[in-house]
Amino acid sequence: MADLSRLFNPRSIAVIGASRHPGKIGYVILKNLIDYGYNGKLYPVNPEATEILGLKSYKSVLEIPDEVDVAILSIPANKVLDVAEDCGKKGVKFLVVIASGFAEAGNEEGERKLVEIAKKYDMRVLGPNIFGYAYTPSKINATFGPKDLAPGHIAFLTQSGALGIALMGWTIMEELGLSALVSLGNMSDLDVIELSRFLAEDTNTKVIAIYLEGLKPGTGRKFIEEMKQVTAKKPVIVIKAGRSSRGQIAVSSHTGSLAGSGRIYDAAFKQAGILVARTIEEMFDWARAFSLLEIPRGERTVILTNGGGVGVLATDAAEESGIPLIDPSTELKTAIKKAMPWFGSARNPIDLTGQALVENYIEALEILNESPEVDNIILLYCRTAVLDPVELAESISKLKSKFRKPIVAALVGGEDVARAIKILNKNGIPAYPGPERAVKSLAAVLDYKRYLDRKIGRTI
Ligand code: COA
Repeated sequence: MADLSRLFNPRSIAVIGASRHPGKIGYVILKNLIDYGYNGKLYPVNPEATEILGLKSYKSVLEIPDEVDVAILSIPANKVLDVAEDCGKKGVKFLVVIASGFAEAGNEEGERKLVEIAKKYDMRVLGPNIFGYAYTPSKINATFGPKDLAPGHIAFLTQSGALGIALMGWTIMEELGLSALVSLGNMSDLDVIELSRFLAEDTNTKVIAIYLEGLKPGTGRKFIEEMKQVTAKKPVIVIKAGRSSRGQIAVSSHTGSLAGSGRIYDAAFKQAGILVARTIEEMFDWARAFSLLEIPRGERTVILTNGGGVGVLATDAAEESGIPLIDPSTELKTAIKKAMPWFGSARNPIDLTGQALVENYIEALEILNESPEVDNIILLYCRTAVLDPVELAESISKLKSKFRKPIVAALVGGEDVARAIKILNKNGIPAYPGPERAVKSLAAVLDYKRYLDRKIGRTI
């Protein structure tokens, strides 16, 4: 397995094509690296400049009086090969090639030569045709997206640049924490397999989410075999674009990949233990759950709610997704009855009723947390006038360390409910604005648990 540690933990980065002009990509990448707080050494390279953004600039990478682990090339495609040669002579370890204008645009020859030069000097190439990469533990934002991205445990590998960049803004808004964000582009050298293999060993990453358009021809078998090694260690969620026939044509002009038939890919993903999401929302919902939850010890699940309707919807979704809902024992029912008015229901879904207060939820959660009948809890809340959602979220968050069982939450309502959802997510309880999303996220976690149990013979 390739050692990519110097790509993600470089001692020094050169930005080649660091521009003096704020509107240019080479300027933004250097600025993001500085502003996001990378604290290794940074070397702008630009033959026309002596200083950029307060840093001494070099005419060529060869002039840098230090070792360079990573060189980010933000120069046009027709200049990349010469600069790659210089980087090789300099002893650079990783080339991150932003430029478009390679295989995706019919310039296969240029791309082949780039990889040839890299091989000659023992360098690895990320790209070309990418928006860069980020790794939050090393405070690296080497992208031309927004400056900020929320740190966390989701690694996102993407063949779509726009989606990756858009997601950076989301991470802040949605409390969705990333460890790594990698633009895959044409995958001329480093590909989704090698990057996933590395991230499977990365202690900062708990789940790998991938937007995939296609694989390089002839790598299907390798993909299945190697991704099995990855899924034995970390959950992998993929969203496969280019399922439709017109979508497949679009893929070939986007990243030059072979989209292939959706069914063939699905079979390959299944064999490799990869979870397939159908929408972006689903992918990140599941990724959120994996990044915050431990793998459950069992599957027996209860729904706790203050609203009958959402309870029923969650019940339907649970049954459809294969989540076993328990029938509580008389003993558990008697205990839980104490947390609700006489007209509440201690069956599953457990309905605390619309007059439930914070203390009712807390009491019920404590009982469920202690009960040997329950492995997982789906916590639902509908906005009522008697229970402030923010207060509920804060109270539950305070007790988070006491709860040993996975909890997923769905809170339905307006603005203050959205705030409460953020509070829960920030405090490690995956929370969603609708019951089906919470249920399906737990279902994905249980699917992965079953895969581990079956394939790996895992014992807890
Ligand atoms: N070494 C170092 N710097 C060099 C250089 C060299 N050999 N040759 C030129 N430069 C400098 C230029 O002088 C310029 O700096 P300046 O603005 O201060 O004058 C800077 O590098 C950039 O060069 P420029 O020719 O202005 O290119 P650009 O910024 O317009 O475009 C790319 C470069 C890579 C952004 C562009 O070619 C490209 O491919 N864009 C698409 C990127 C993309 O979409 N990727 C996929 C995303 S998913």
